[in-house]
Order: sequence, then C-alpha cells, then structure tokens
Amino acid sequence: MNLDALTYAGSLNNLREVQDNPRHTFLRGDICDAALVRRIFAEHAIRTVVHFAAESHVDRSITGPAAFIQTNVVGTFTLLEAARESWANRSKPCRFLHVSTDEVYGALGPDDPAFTESTPYAPNSPYSASKASSDHLVRAYGRTYGLPVLTTNCSNNYGPYQYPEKLIPLMILNALIGKPLPVYGDGRQVRDWLYVEDHCDAILTVLDRGRVGETYNIGGGNEQTNLEIVGRICDLLDRLQPKQAGGSYREQITHVQDRPGHDRRYAIDAGKIRAELGWQPAHAFDDGLAQTVRWYLANQDWVNSIMSERYSEWIALNYAKRPTTDGNF
Ligand code: TYD
Repeated sequence: MNLDALTYAGSLNNLREVQDNPRHTFLRGDICDAALVRRIFAEHAIRTVVHFAAESHVDRSITGPAAFIQTNVVGTFTLLEAARESWANRSKPCRFLHVSTDEVYGALGPDDPAFTESTPYAPNSPYSASKASSDHLVRAYGRTYGLPVLTTNCSNNYGPYQYPEKLIPLMILNALIGKPLPVYGDGRQVRDWLYVEDHCDAILTVLDRGRVGETYNIGGGNEQTNLEIVGRICDLLDRLQPKQAGGSYREQITHVQDRPGHDRRYAIDAGKIRAELGWQPAHAFDDGLAQTVRWYLANQDWVNSIMSERYSEWIALNYAKRPTTDGNF
C-alpha cells in the first residue's frame, strides 16, 4: 500500500515499474489525514510501515517552512498515532521504520569525526529541525508506548527519478539547456553521496534485521565538495553529449549567493549498520554518477513532464534574486 500525496515532487511516472504489479497498490492521500491513515491501517491490516513521506529540500524550507512542520512533524505524529492505536493488541510482529537524514546532526568542521548514532542533534535549517522533531517523536513512541520503531539517518542521495531541485539533477538539466550551473558560495561545502539503490538496500536490511528501538546511520563513505561534483557532471556530459558549439560544460559554472545557514560539511560513520547488519554500499560513486547522467539523458519524457510551470516558478523564486558572486573568492 503506497500512500503518497503527489505534491510537486511526486509523480505517477515514477511508479511505472510497479504499476502492473499486483503486490503494489497506490493511494493518493496525505499522511496528515488522520481518518484516512486510520482507515488504511484497519482495512489493510498494516503491520509494517516504512515512512519516507517528507518535504526534503532545504532551500524550500527557507522560503516556506510551514509545509515542513506540517508534513514532517504533524504527518509523522499522525502515522505514529495510527500505528499505536492499530497495534495496541497486536498478536503478530509489527515494525515502524522512520526514514530520516544526517542533517539532524548539524554541520561538521573539516577535521571533525563523521556523525555517529550518538552525535548530539543540532539541526540548522527548518528542514533539518522538522526531521529532528520527527525523529524525537518516533523515539518517544518507542520508549513511552513500546511501539516497535526503527530510525535510519542517511546522507545525500542521488540517482534516477530525483526531482531536479537537488544539486545533481539540477546541474545535469541546467547544463543541457545551456543555463548557468549555480554553485552556492565558494562551492567547497562537503556532502557524503550515496546511490539511491544502496539507500533502499540499507532500509530493507534494517527492516529485516535491525534491532527494534535502534537508529542506524547510512552513508556512502564518499565525501566530495560541491565543486568536485559539478565538475564531474560536466566532464561526463562533455563525453556523453558534447556541446554542439564546442567547449566544456564547465564554462557554465557560476558562483551565486550562498544559502543562509549553509551547513559546511556532512559525513556519516556507517560502522554500526556495517558491523551489526553487514550492509555496505554496492555502487562506486563514479559508476553511480555515470549511470545517473545517462538516465537523465535517456529519459527526456520524464524530464519534460517535470519541467512544468510549477518547476519554473521554483527556479525563479530560488535563483532569480541570488546575485552572481564570481570573482569574490
Ligand atoms: P542539496 O541537493 O539541496 O542537498 P542538501 O542541502 O540537503 O545537502 O544540496 C547539496 C549541496 O549543493 C549543498 O551544499 C547545497 C549545494 N547546492 C548548490 O551549490 N547549488 C544549488 O543550486 C543547489 C540546489 C545546491
């Protein structure tokens, strides 16, 4: 049972591979709709929840934080309440897996050790604060009501079907249409990138074998600066789809005004999930990135379906007033 509100970032085109699968049922609805969520638990005898539903883009949380509090905090609360009620007299095992982010731990300095499961929470954006709140609610429902909860905190994902507001798909698509590649600030912020299928594999692993009540950090062990990422994308595109007018896509790189409160570095210590559950990423970054760039090149229909008026409105809101800062570094 796949419950999804199909907000701006959701699309039935993302479910093409499972649309004829008899084991998959799609239902359009909001996790904040308590009556709907309770009905689904009752009618489908739900015993396992994997809670992916969230507003997830930091820049949108800066321009419009309310949706983040609603979906991420109130939505998580609604799901937890439905599970608590439905599982009160359970006779069979149940599991509630909450999918979260490494951003709850705040920002690291260049030489700090990577985030572990015991790093104190220190969220810096409305987005990460809303995810931190939801993590706390999940923990509290485990402790107070004995709800069988698990939480995963993952680093930056990339791969097919990612909405092009996030760094990697945005840069691929802007490059191809000849637009500037807007690097925030000096571009030396560091993220730890993980291929989306490795994240899915980790979630399944925790769902199968994770210890109830525990949290697990998930990461790629692959720290790169934003400038390195954008440069690699340009190099791949130069090979796969050379510019007709000649030259490199790198010439489109433009430094723009930084994100307020921009976290300098994230890094995940995935030692716990590796040691306890034997999970590790299967995709090397170079292969995953090349696969991702090829996917965006080969799926023009999908790209066209995303390039709506709503998308253009977001691009205008986030980038039009961001002055170019090239030469200021
Ligand atoms: P993003 O994909 O938004 O993920 P997050 O902020 O959750 O890490 O951004 C990844 C990094 O790329 C982050 O340091 C911000 C930076 N960035 C840019 O430099 N330019 C952009 O246009 C975007 C969207 C992100």
